[in-house]
This record gives sequence, C-alpha cells and structure tokens, in this order.
Amino acid sequence: RGVFRRPPELVPYATGFDDGDPARPFAKFALTQRLAQAQLLPGLSTTLAGYNGVFPGPTIRVRQGTRSEIRIRNALPAAGLLHPAAFNTVTHLHGSASLPQYDGYANDFTAPGKVKNYQYPNWQSARTLWYHDHNHLVTSQNVYSGLAGFYPMSDQYEQAQLPQGEFDVPLMISDAMFNADGSLGFNDNGHAGLWGDVIMVNGVPWPTMKVKPRIYRFRVLVASITRSYRPTLSTGDPFYVVGTDGGMTPRVEAVQSWRQGTAERYEILIDFRKYRVGQMIEMRNLSNKNNVSYANTNKIMRFQVVADSGSTAGSISAIPATLDDGGSANPERGGLDVMKLTPDMAVAKRILRVQRQGGEWTINGETWEDVAASGFSRCFGSPQPYSIEQWTITNESGGWFHPVHIHLIDAKIIARNTNGGKPFPWEGGPKDVFYAGENESITMLMQFNTGAHIGGRYMVHCHNLVHEDHDMMIQFSVGDWRN
Ligand code: C2O
Ligand code: CU
Repeated sequence: RGVFRRPPELVPYATGFDDGDPARPFAKFALTQRLAQAQLLPGLSTTLAGYNGVFPGPTIRVRQGTRSEIRIRNALPAAGLLHPAAFNTVTHLHGSASLPQYDGYANDFTAPGKVKNYQYPNWQSARTLWYHDHNHLVTSQNVYSGLAGFYPMSDQYEQAQLPQGEFDVPLMISDAMFNADGSLGFNDNGHAGLWGDVIMVNGVPWPTMKVKPRIYRFRVLVASITRSYRPTLSTGDPFYVVGTDGGMTPRVEAVQSWRQGTAERYEILIDFRKYRVGQMIEMRNLSNKNNVSYANTNKIMRFQVVADSGSTAGSISAIPATLDDGGSANPERGGLDVMKLTPDMAVAKRILRVQRQGGEWTINGETWEDVAASGFSRCFGSPQPYSIEQWTITNESGGWFHPVHIHLIDAKIIARNTNGGKPFPWEGGPKDVFYAGENESITMLMQFNTGAHIGGRYMVHCHNLVHEDHDMMIQFSVGDWRN
C-alpha cells in the first residue's frame, strides 16, 4: 500500500493565437518517450518506458476551443523493453476526433530518435481523454511498459457544474505482475489476456488518498491491458455517475457499483461529507466474469477522511440531478448532440461480429493482417462525413469479454441484449468503448464527424490490447480517403 499521488501536469512551452487572432488560441506541449527507473514496489526499482519518463505520463489539461500541438520525441532504445521488436511508437489521443494523420494509426510509427508533431483540434465537448501508444503488434507491451497519460478537456458547461481543481481527481487503474527483482513481468496467456496480481492507481499499488469531507469528482480510467473492474465502496454508499467516455451524462445516476473495461472512462462523484475525520473508506473491486483473480485484486484503493481546511475553490455543495453539456458537439463543426440521435436518423446499419477463429481474434472474420495485406486499403465501410449510422457489436466468441473501441466517434448506446434491452444505468452518456461481455450485444448510434469535410481511415479494435495485437483490429474510412 502506498501514498496516493496525482500524475504531474504538463505546462505548455508556448501559447498564443494563430495569425494573432484572439478567437484562435493554441497551446504547444512537448513530451519525450524514454526509459526511466520508478519505485513501484517498496525497496525495488522497476524499469519503465514513459512519456517524460513517468508513469502515468504527465496530465495534459486543455480547454475546448484551444487547439493543441504535442511534439513527441521517441528517445527509447532500439528494441522494446518487453519485446524484441523495434521500439517504434505511435501515439493515439483516445477520445479525440483527430484528423486521420494524427489519430495514432497503428502502422504510422515514429522510430527511436525521431519526432512527430501531433495536432489536436479540441473542438469537442469537455471529457476525459487519454493518450497512449498504439504501435502495430506490440501495443500491449508498449502501454504496459508505461506509455499512457491523461488529457482532460474542460469547457464552460463542465466547469460550472462539476468539481474542479483539488476536487477533480484523475484515477488511472491498471494491474501488473512483477519479477522478484522488481522488473515488469509480461504474460499474455497465449494471446488471451494479461491479468496481474498487483492493482495500481496512478502507478501506486493500492494507495491511500486523504480526502476532505466534501464532494469529489474522480475521472476513472482503466488502463489495464485486459482486466476489467467493478468498483464498489466498503460503506455501501453509492457513486454518482456524471460522465462517460465522451463527456457528461444528461442524468446523474446513483450506482452501488459499475463495470468498467480497459480504455473506458467513467466520471463519478463520491460524497465524503457524511464521514467522520479519520474514517477509512475502501474502494473494492467486485469480480467480473471471465477475469482471473488473485489474493488482492478485490481491492483498488482507500480514502482516509481528514479535517476540512483551507480553500473551498472548485468544490460543489450538492450532488446534481441532471447536467447540461451545452449540446455535446460543437455545432460549428457540424456536430449533432449525440445523446439526441434517434434510430430513424441512421442511414445505414452495420453488425460487427466478434469471434475467435484459429487462435486469432476476429471482427467479421477479418484481422489487421488482412488490412495490412491489402496495403492498408481494405475498409469494412465508408460512411460519408457527418452521416449517422447504427452499429451493433455482438460477442460470439464464447467465454471472453471484449471492450471494443471505435475511433473518431462518440456514440449513444440505445440497446443491449441483456439488462432488459436497455443500456446499463452507468452508460447514459456518450461512449467510444463498448463492453461486450460474454454473449452480449450492444447497439448504438453515432455520427461520423471529423470536424471538417475531410475523410480518412480510422481503426476499430478490441481494447484488450493483447487481443488488439493478435489481431482484432479492422478499419473504416470516412468518405473516400484516397482523395
Ligand atoms: Cu485507446 Cu485505438 O485506442
Ligand atoms: Cu477482445
């Protein structure tokens, strides 16, 4: 058990206005991917590969309407830390409607010694984004080595309604296994998944966080390679779900627990006001189907209530019942409010079937190998810019779960084959990762909005990164990307 910490925040090296126009602000950041020693376990040092040598990577806070550039230098050694292949990297900003050339396309890598300058538009609604490696075939090892960080985006609506500053806390949950000398162990169980016996929050095993008797907002991100979680509080008190992958939920739901797979983001409030000073509240992990448990994987972290003191800046005084995200998509960019999409607006319906065939994970019988064999031209569909479609993801793979991620889009879940046909209570906001448990299927509506009349290729894959690497990834294009 360690002391809770927040990841460091990255300061831009330059800010200003494009063409001197006050309506077009920008912020420029720089990151260097490098090896570093970290103390994750008491008395032992662990070699990591991290953005700026830290895990989690530095938190990059941005504001809606301010475009950002991140210059990422690959200063890693020639070969991977946990694989013998070249330590090429490509960064994906997960949750961003990025243009295709900045979307972290798996085969568009930067070799050690090279630099890429990523451009992000930040025109979407406030949300918890995260950045992580996406390199072809070795994403699981690269992310597991430490290449992941937060990128929270704020806007005026979110700032007016949800806790800020010290009461706005990113929680990156991951799991790992360690060798006796402290080095990271990596075992993907024959491409099934990696389940570690140590649970970390922001890179600290089972930490204890001191909290004031106030309402806190937690941006919960599961950055595990495979493991999914079902957090619950030892007091039996509820969490209040205020946000999902793509921003605020229109209605605030109180839940005793929720299910969260890798890459999903849930923003929740915990109300610590009723607890006495000194009280210890534990966040536990109830088991989810098709995961591997160890002695302490039923624990995540603890909160210790301390006396209220100091500033109240950023706190809120009541749990809201509803939230207004201002329409969720920026209408100037052609965006419709995703939570207001209805099935009659969809111009096409597609089904993505997840299966296991000959030891490979497939979607509609295809893998990234098929995409590569086509010279990266093969697309399973080509929706027009701004069109709306209805997709169903169906898990026909037997006793496995798959958190499936669709790049570019925010979607509204409209149906599940379980839970009486309805989305789970915690799924009431915009989503970009869809947890398909054993025999589950999920139907959703989405708009293909790149923020411009620009097309290109975008990936769809399982975010169990071992599945993604073997080889559960396909692509669609928006419009005709060859132009
Ligand atoms: Cu978070 Cu394609 O990934
Ligand atoms: Cu999977």
